[in-house]
Amino acid sequence: MSGTDGIRFRRMRAQDAAAAAALEASVSPEAWSEKAFRDAVLDENAIYLAAEQNGGLVGCCGLWISLDEADLCNVAVKRELWGKGIATRMVGALLSLGEKAGVRAFTLEVRRSNPAAVRLYEKLGFAAEGVRRDFYEGPKDDALIMWKRRTDRTDDGRESGSGGA
Ligand SMILES: CC(C)(COP(=O)(O)OP(=O)(O)OC[C@H]1O[C@@H](n2cnc3c(N)ncnc32)[C@H](O)[C@@H]1OP(=O)(O)O)[C@@H](O)C(=O)NCCC(=O)NCCS
Repeated sequence: MSGTDGIRFRRMRAQDAAAAAALEASVSPEAWSEKAFRDAVLDENAIYLAAEQNGGLVGCCGLWISLDEADLCNVAVKRELWGKGIATRMVGALLSLGEKAGVRAFTLEVRRSNPAAVRLYEKLGFAAEGVRRDFYEGPKDDALIMWKRRTDRTDDGRESGSGGA
């Protein structure tokens, strides 16, 4: 998977754990450790994607699958590359992999005060369905709980959803 800007999307490997932890720490107050990333990449219930440019890791995101639901997490793009559509393409590719693995409903938590991330997820089909007050510390913030549910059209054109939260 690669684009015209030299960004390539690929599955993350255990060797990427240090770079992913450093990238996330540079842009997010909720950064995971190198060990947490290594364990995640090696977990059979998780799918992690990396965005790579000139051999360096410039983006990451992960999906934790449980039956037909999945949690999206660790979405981060190198600050100098924000606003170029990298997260849209990277997370879009990850959601497609999740759907191929049988996921019918995706969920995530996001800081209410993070307009770029909220916009990204809305663009990808997520909608806010709930709020967890003061969920985040440092700085304190509410979490929006967002869901993206796969709907299948029935023969008579009605939509059938994938169940509730
Ligand atoms: C959130 C993040 C991953 C977005 O990465 P990105 O590659 O810049 O995203 P994209 O370029 O694909 O842009 C996604 C959308 O957000 C919009 N956007 C970007 N900055 C914005 C801002 N400050 N306010 C509102 N919308 C914004 C973009 O315009 C785009 O929408 P559009 O196509 O309708 O214009 C990146 O900002 C980041 O790494 N932030 C820090 C980590 C983080 O917050 N992760 C999410 C945790 S839940």
